[in-house]
Amino acid sequence: MFSKVEKVTCVGAGYVGGPTCAMIAHKCPDIQVTVVDMNSEKIAEWNSEKLPIYEPGLHEIVMAARGKNLHFSSDIPKAIREADLIFISVNTPTKNYGRGKGMAPDLKYVESVARTIAQHAGAPKIVVEKSTVPVKAAESISFILREAQKNDTRLAFQVLSNPEFLAEGTAIRDLSNPDRVLIGGESTKEGQEAIHHLVSIYERWVPRDRILTTNTWSSELSKLAANAFLAQRISSINAMSAVCEATGADVREVAHAVGFDSRIGNKFLQASVGFGGSCFQKDVLSLVYLCESLNLQKVADYWMGVIDINNWQRRRFADKIIAELFNTVTDKRIAIFGFAFKKNTGDTRESSSIYVSSHLLEEHAKLAIYDPKVSEKQIRMELGNNVDKQIVEKLVTVCADPYEAAAGAHAIVVLTEWDEFKELDYSRIYSSMQHPAAIFDGRLILDQPVLRDIGFRTFAIGTAPDQAYNLFGSSGCC
Ligand code: UDX
Ligand code: UDX
Ligand code: ADP
Repeated sequence: MFSKVEKVTCVGAGYVGGPTCAMIAHKCPDIQVTVVDMNSEKIAEWNSEKLPIYEPGLHEIVMAARGKNLHFSSDIPKAIREADLIFISVNTPTKNYGRGKGMAPDLKYVESVARTIAQHAGAPKIVVEKSTVPVKAAESISFILREAQKNDTRLAFQVLSNPEFLAEGTAIRDLSNPDRVLIGGESTKEGQEAIHHLVSIYERWVPRDRILTTNTWSSELSKLAANAFLAQRISSINAMSAVCEATGADVREVAHAVGFDSRIGNKFLQASVGFGGSCFQKDVLSLVYLCESLNLQKVADYWMGVIDINNWQRRRFADKIIAELFNTVTDKRIAIFGFAFKKNTGDTRESSSIYVSSHLLEEHAKLAIYDPKVSEKQIRMELGNNVDKQIVEKLVTVCADPYEAAAGAHAIVVLTEWDEFKELDYSRIYSSMQHPAAIFDGRLILDQPVLRDIGFRTFAIGTAPDQAYNLFGSSGCC
């Protein structure tokens, strides 16, 4: 029913659609790949020298394939008409209105793409959900497409689930060497045929035994489950970090010892000021919402605990800063090192920096923020969504380098683990600061003994308090 895949279209030119299609174009020179988006400015950026997202290695593969077999376009109907296979790769943010507000993913963008495909297809198409969606979303997409089929006998559709597991900052590495590719589809002859076509794209560079095929619902749920398990590990180690601070254990030693158990493994045990990013919170909340709708309240509560600990960890860290700065930060300059949700990305969605900074702003601290990849506009936009815009205007300065941010500050707060923060001249920084000068390391990247020798008071997540300077005892906060 479906012809050999020669043309692929991806609707949604974001963090997932852009890099994924660049990789398909890079690995399959015989396939024409077109990425479309309703945001024409974004398409213009994809067609320019400065791509709209920063990912190590992305620029090179886009430049090599662009104009040959990789195209970025705003002509959505044409790209749909011409494609044999269409990825839906649009955003599914947590709903901020109506039923499921604050919990359920908003499917309006996915549905609108399904309707556009129904309208412009004109011939059989394989439709692939790449966006993370709730279980059974493929059913809604199929329903809409089947309606179109009733009125036009030339049409035929198969909807597959093919969730993306790439992490930002390592997208190109993850795409070129994935742990696994997951494809879910129907068990019918047509469903299996569609799966076969998608498998034949990935197997050009992914070993066949790493391409897993399942039914549609297992595939959709596995994506939510994988993100929930990863988020849960971070909340588990962050919960332990609080126990470490109170007992004198060191969370790095605990993580190392625990991770040595091959049943547990050593990855994703880095204690932090809390996980951020567009996926973890959204997907855990989506899972919680799903469980509640299925009347599985115990399961919903279990997963909600992961989010609760994450929010608590952010708050705990911000409260610790205030406590250690003699219980007031009003009018004190505080340097914030890092605003992205992790290193090697300019993405700030759900970054813990937003929450820690907002809490300090509510206490009227003056923040001097530095991040190597996040623009001033983006920082102000994120903070302005969280605290009064006038407060942001008055109390926030965005700095072009970390030395400028630290000059005259009472404290430095490390919130993103950028490598460059490890290499700074902290003696120079110390002499430019107010004294006593403190460093709060929310990422455990700095060498505390060295900083203490320079004269800093130090506090790092999950480690014993700096006894020599711990004026308020280990209780700190909360
Ligand atoms: C456990 C730890 O594995 C061991 O390292 C520690 O020293 C003592 O506690 P044990 O209780 O002997 O060992 O057995 P284990 O194999 O861990 O199983 C514990 C329980 O978990 C069993 O009831 C087992 O059936 C169950 N289990 C284990 C599961 O339900 N699912 C699993 O995937 C693994
Ligand atoms: C995540 C999943 O890893 C990826 O598979 C999925 O497709 C999308 O969601 P991403 O959000 O891009 O990817 O980044 P990730 O590396 O998972 O980090 C998420 C957050 O957790 C970051 O804020 C990071 O700093 C934090 N984190 C990660 C920790 O605090 N500790 C860790 O050990 C790992
Ligand atoms: P993700 O991290 O999932 O890739 P992004 O927000 O980075 O999410 O990208 C999603 C992209 O999808 C955005 O560029 C947005 O403009 C685009 N988009 C959303 N709805 C539609 C639609 N109906 N048609 C075309 N593009 C869309």
